[in-house]
Amino acid sequence: MNLIKPLLLTLTLATLAQATPTGEELTKTKCASCHMLEVPTPAMIPTLKAPPLHSVLFHLKLEIDDPKAQKEFIVDYALYPKASKSICESNQVQKFGVMPSQKGVVSKEELGRIADYAIKNFPSKAFVKMITTMQTNGKMKSLKNSPFLMNQDELPHLTKKLMEHWDKAKLGLSEEQKTKLLVVRKETLSGVKEIKKALKELEAEVIEMSVEGEELKAIEPKVETIGKLKVKATMIQLKCLKDSIEILNDEQIEYILPLWDA
Ligand code: HEC
Repeated sequence: MNLIKPLLLTLTLATLAQATPTGEELTKTKCASCHMLEVPTPAMIPTLKAPPLHSVLFHLKLEIDDPKAQKEFIVDYALYPKASKSICESNQVQKFGVMPSQKGVVSKEELGRIADYAIKNFPSKAFVKMITTMQTNGKMKSLKNSPFLMNQDELPHLTKKLMEHWDKAKLGLSEEQKTKLLVVRKETLSGVKEIKKALKELEAEVIEMSVEGEELKAIEPKVETIGKLKVKATMIQLKCLKDSIEILNDEQIEYILPLWDA
């Protein structure tokens, strides 16, 4: 008689455990087929089907402070995904396509457990370190190759910011605005691209002439051309900023403004 009780209890607990998988187990079975749970190596990035879970939570926590609101976002997005709701950069959504709804695959209650687990455990310190190093390296590289005279953070790279928020409901770009902004972007990019190419060649020539001990007088015109080209690139950059601001309304500018210090 006394043996039956513990046996029953064990059985009940075992069934219960089976009936209610943990957040970790659910994340593995329901999400990890697309969202890898490990920290990706750079070589893995081109082969990914979806952003790694570390990356999803990294962006989510940047955008939303309140853990309760973070949880609500995950539960809602997994059931009703939409580009305009997305918190990750629009270029990521364009790259992967919008996530397919997991409705019918996972319940709202299970998603709550997945969200609790994900919020508690992601992103890892190692991932945050990796991504911040990558961001710093990217910034250094673009500063090194910058054709502009002004590189202060206060001068926003508006087209880039706009592209990142292109489809966000919060920014609310109309089709007409998108068309106009794309024209501005295209003009800016092609103008700057040409100058960058010319600058690279000129700089290489100046270096070569200096190393070969040429007269400074012979080098000076090339340096002057470099200066003029940088003025031109900077003016294109400022015109792009001005044109973009004219296309946006006050609310949109206000929404995109706080992102400038990022
Ligand atoms: C079939 C592949 C697939 C599965 C399975 C999947 N996702 Fe996704 N998920 C994606 C893709 C692709 C994206 C990036 C595009 C996007 O944001 O819509 C994404 C993005 C997300 C985002 C970020 C949304 C944003 O853009 O800000 C969240 C949150 C998310 N998934 C949660 C989940 C959860 C939770 C699960 C498990 C229940 C899950 N996903 C399962 C493919 C998947």
